[in-house]
Amino acid sequence: MRKPIIAANWKMNKGPAETEDFLKGLISKIGKATDKCDVVIAPPFVSLPTATKLLASHDVSVAAQNVSQYDAGAYTGEINVMMLKELYVPYVIIGHSERRAIFGETDEVLNAKMHKVRETNLKAIFCIGETLEEREAGQLDEVLRRQLTEGLKGLSEKDVLETVLAYEPVWAIGTGVTASPEQAQEAHAKVRVILAESFGGEVADKVRIQYGGSVKPDNAAELLAQPDIDGALVGGASMEVGSFLQIIENGS
Ligand code: G3P
Repeated sequence: MRKPIIAANWKMNKGPAETEDFLKGLISKIGKATDKCDVVIAPPFVSLPTATKLLASHDVSVAAQNVSQYDAGAYTGEINVMMLKELYVPYVIIGHSERRAIFGETDEVLNAKMHKVRETNLKAIFCIGETLEEREAGQLDEVLRRQLTEGLKGLSEKDVLETVLAYEPVWAIGTGVTASPEQAQEAHAKVRVILAESFGGEVADKVRIQYGGSVKPDNAAELLAQPDIDGALVGGASMEVGSFLQIIENGS
């Protein structure tokens, strides 16, 4: 039985003050929701200390949205894994399509990041997903296979078990166009087949795979009811306490 995991990816929104407001509201209303579902909040780097401090005694985890593949040194603007460890941040999102498309992060760079993350026992939320052009060209299988094979290359079974995957079709991100439950389920099932080839059936069976792309309170239940969908990575609808809580409630 895979416990659902629902994460808020705030992207470049909410500095420390807004983070504090949101989390105080979340804490006051979340009740026992985390019994049924793991909850993760990914604020921007500058808000991580606020988040880890406020959530220290609550059953809600914190994720960074990115991390460097390098150790300390002359890498202006970068944040390394040890810095996240120092802040007690347990999760980090790797390979979001915005990092791939806007910041040019390749499968090779993402694989280096995955190794850094695992060397320090952080947990990755590793994102994959096809563009509309790739889907229309019939390349869904090929894209998922490449992203998974290259991105997770050289990792152990244990590393993959400690990783959460997020299938986010690029055409569904921030567009209001959600993948249908059938489309999402089909892609998640493909992901498990590909994982089984590289890491064995047991790993493929146990790994949690989130769906991301225009998840809202009114579509969360149907998406998360699919057999291979184990949670959600939520952008826009995670920005308000009410709608995020509603997704947790409806999805778990
Ligand atoms: O990582 C979450 C994300 O990319 C989906 O964003 O706004 O479509 O929920 P949104």
